[in-house]
Amino acid sequence: MMKQTAGMRLRGTVAVPGDKSIAHRAALIASIAKGTSIIERFPSGADCHRTLDLLEGVGVRVVRESDRVSVSGVGYFGFRAPSSALYAGNSGTTMRMGCGLLCPQPFDSRLTGDESLQHRPMRRVIEPLEQMGAVIESTAEGRAPLVIRGGHRLRGIHYRLPVASAQVKTAILLAALHADGETRVEEPHASRNHTELALQRFGADLRLENGGVGLTGGGELRPTHMRLPGDISSAAFFVVGATILPGSSLVLSEVGLNPTRTAFLDVLRSMGARITIEEEHELEGEITGTLRVESAELSGVDVPPERVPGLIDEIPALAVAASFAHGETTIRGAAELRVKESDRIHALASGLQALSVEVEELPDGLRVKGGRPLRPASLDSFGDHRIAMAWGVASLGVDGGCEIRGKDAADVSYPGFWETLRQAVA
Ligand code: S3P
Repeated sequence: MMKQTAGMRLRGTVAVPGDKSIAHRAALIASIAKGTSIIERFPSGADCHRTLDLLEGVGVRVVRESDRVSVSGVGYFGFRAPSSALYAGNSGTTMRMGCGLLCPQPFDSRLTGDESLQHRPMRRVIEPLEQMGAVIESTAEGRAPLVIRGGHRLRGIHYRLPVASAQVKTAILLAALHADGETRVEEPHASRNHTELALQRFGADLRLENGGVGLTGGGELRPTHMRLPGDISSAAFFVVGATILPGSSLVLSEVGLNPTRTAFLDVLRSMGARITIEEEHELEGEITGTLRVESAELSGVDVPPERVPGLIDEIPALAVAASFAHGETTIRGAAELRVKESDRIHALASGLQALSVEVEELPDGLRVKGGRPLRPASLDSFGDHRIAMAWGVASLGVDGGCEIRGKDAADVSYPGFWETLRQAVA
């Protein structure tokens, strides 16, 4: 339990780990390029290392030197059949994107994960890949373990995702690299576009078209050297902490500000947050900037469903901000949160209730009435990294502090989180 006194604030400068989403993509795409790619500021979180493990499992040489990783790409068909199951741990991104990478291969692969991952829906990725000609076996409920049957030739498809999902979009695009003809993917709302940017960087024949993306298979990918921006989804916890703790002034250096990821900053600003962006620049197609956050009084806001794909991973942090904001905040259209690393709607509602916040659990979101002091409570991470970190920040604003069960879950995306938070407290 962090020692708690009233009047805590966050000061100084924090450098969050490199972007988890981009790291997965960079490593996966590098593995099928011809030659060695270098990825700097590679996050040390467990999830991204499960992706590297998967690549090693199919014979790719990976060198991990602190936050500098090199991946020796073997081209489209240079993988070796894995000698055992490929373990994705807690990482839905590794498993779903792994399906796209492995389904065109000539060999079978078996993909497994931890308890949480074995409960997450995989049909959303199996269905479009099967339309392309892949064969993927799952449990009767469409969950892992998955067996990808090798040796099937793929063909391009036109696919409209029923729910915006960057993971599914990516799986289809990775498979499309090996498919005959053109693949087109459209989404109801734009999800993060890191795959599109990375594929262009590695030299794929990819076109951004009205409301979708087109890719023609074949062609060689070239290796690259990239430095990842800081992960805005990790920064989000510090942004909220500095906003809700009076007297805070915090700098978050070199954070990724890709417009498909910044809806959280817009919403928080519309609640009254004081966030300025300095030294904004482009880093290999991705926008990066330094955030300066000063504490501010917040008011509640309505987050409409169309904004949700742009801030889906920041909702745990946003729910904490809403608890400290005057008035009501409503988040709708976020049913996807029920099938993340935990049922995040339930996890947030039950934790906020324990903190004496007036909260309503909706089928697809939350209604939070904030602005009254939170009371000390014992909070559960539900084994979910983003829930653990949300409680870490909320707890700083509770006079008397909170006990947080399952804090180590943060290691999935941010192993140094608790130490960094402690250091930023002034
Ligand atoms: C991710 C996409 C999102 C997000 C996840 C990471 C990605 O999931 O919640 O944490 O890197 O593509 P969905 O694709 O399921 O929306």
